[in-house]
Amino acid sequence: MSTIELEKMSEHVGTEILGIDLNRASDADIETIKAELANRGLVVFRDQNLDEQAHIDFAKRIGPIVVNNYFPENGKFPEIAEVRKAETQLANIGGGWHTDHSYDQIPAMGSILVARELPPVGGDTLFASMAAAYESLSDGLKKTLESLRAVHTADHIYGPQGFLSNSDQGADLKGRDLKTLAIHPAVIRHPVTGQKLLYVNSAFTTHFEGWTRDESLVLLNYLYAIGMQEEFQCRLQWQPGTVAMWDNRSTWHYALNDYHGHRRLMHRITIDGVPIS
Ligand code: SIN
Repeated sequence: MSTIELEKMSEHVGTEILGIDLNRASDADIETIKAELANRGLVVFRDQNLDEQAHIDFAKRIGPIVVNNYFPENGKFPEIAEVRKAETQLANIGGGWHTDHSYDQIPAMGSILVARELPPVGGDTLFASMAAAYESLSDGLKKTLESLRAVHTADHIYGPQGFLSNSDQGADLKGRDLKTLAIHPAVIRHPVTGQKLLYVNSAFTTHFEGWTRDESLVLLNYLYAIGMQEEFQCRLQWQPGTVAMWDNRSTWHYALNDYHGHRRLMHRITIDGVPIS
């Protein structure tokens, strides 16, 4: 019999799942995890002992793996991308509000991050609920957003002129020559729950289709301020053995960069998504 317990991390996003060893999860446990991920956008497991192969095996039970085109690869396991920052580096990966892979026309469903090396303090990750952000808008703005599609790309981050490519993370990144362009509705429905979600983010959304960048920024910056409100967030403090999995359609996340002089290494596996609308 399952001993799983669910503990909310905040009102709108995140559930800590207790009483489970991911190396021994039953099929019923996996279904519970998937349902909680769809409903709460983020699930967190503590005190796990997942080696790289177990990380891959667990990920495959959630969905097909998609390899990130830019992050440094783990030398031994190509399915695993490394989110790492050395003692000597200043830039980090993911240090701004974003949702992974929104620059793909079929964005990744989610990501599974395993803490491998942590700074003594700091390096937390913030998550925000895009269902709560959308629900908080007026009926008038919701109606306006329904008619808008937004353009997403990663070129200004990972391309030759990109700010991360030109930071001290640049030498570790790959995919500099790739070009990305995706157009998504500004509001999407979650493929599992049917919930409406705000689907723009400050890292990868450049403008609304048919609008100039300057025109778009007025509305985008307003929406970002809504999405960043603390009541829609939860904060994950990593510990050795912490594993987190988030849904990229319904959440934003932000890797805090407050641990200069210390090393942080996370292993990320990205799970493939389905067309969104
Ligand atoms: C990411 O954006 O995928 C990285 C999150 C983190 O390092 O906490």
